[in-house]
Amino acid sequence: MELINLIKQNRSYRRFDQSFEIPKQNLIQLINLARLSASARNQQSLKYFISNTPEFNSKIFLCLGWAGYLTDWNGPKEGEHPSAYIVILNDTTIAKNHFCDEGIAAQSILLGAVEQKLGGCIIASVNKEKLGVFLNLPDNLEILLVLALGKPVEKVIVEPMFTNDYQYWRDNNEVHHVPKRDVDELIVNFFDY
Ligand SMILES: Cc1cc2nc3c(=O)[nH]c(=O)nc-3n(C[C@H](O)[C@H](O)[C@H](O)COP(=O)(O)O)c2cc1C
Repeated sequence: MELINLIKQNRSYRRFDQSFEIPKQNLIQLINLARLSASARNQQSLKYFISNTPEFNSKIFLCLGWAGYLTDWNGPKEGEHPSAYIVILNDTTIAKNHFCDEGIAAQSILLGAVEQKLGGCIIASVNKEKLGVFLNLPDNLEILLVLALGKPVEKVIVEPMFTNDYQYWRDNNEVHHVPKRDVDELIVNFFDY
C-alpha cells in the first residue's frame, strides 16, 4: 500500500473484534519495525511487553483511559476490547532521556499493524503504577505508552477542521469523526516569499 494510504487508514481505532486472535509472531514483526526506526543518540533504550492472552489483556485494559472527549463513553464494551497490546517501556539503565523515541516506535508499529489489516490506538492515559505491578516490572523499566491492537469494527472518518474545533466526536451511527487542520494552516512563513 502507498504510504499516503497507509497513513490515511492508520486512524486511532478503539473498538475491535475481540474474538480475533493476533499471533505473538505478528506482534514481534511489528516490534521489529520499531527496532529499525530512528532512535535518539542511537541508544535504543526502548523495551516492549507483548500481551495477546485474555488473562494479560484484561489486566492491561483496567489501566487504560479511552477517548477523553467522548465523556458519555467508558471505552470499548466486552466483545470489542483489543486483541493485543504492546506496552512501550524505557530501560533507564540504557538511557534516562529517551527523547521522542516512543512516538516514532509507536507510529512504525501502527503503520505495520495497518499493513497487517489490523488497527490500533496509542494510549498515554495509563495508570502506570497499577500496570507496573500487574506486569511485575523491575524499577529500571518505565512505562511510556500502551498500544492497543486488534481488528477494528468501527468506522473512522477524517474531516476538515473549522474554527479550531479539534475535538473528535461520534455521530448517532457510532461513526467516529476526526477533524484535521488544513495543510495551509500548518505551514508558517515570516518572510515575503
Ligand atoms: C501521544 C498520544 C497519546 C494518546 N493517548 C490517548 C489516550 O490515552 N486515549 C485514547 O483514547 N487515545 C489517545 N490517543 C489517540 C488520539 O486521541 C488520536 O490520535 C487523535 O484523536 C487523532 O485521531 P487519529 O489518530 O485517528 O488521527 C493518543 C495519541 C497520541 C499521539
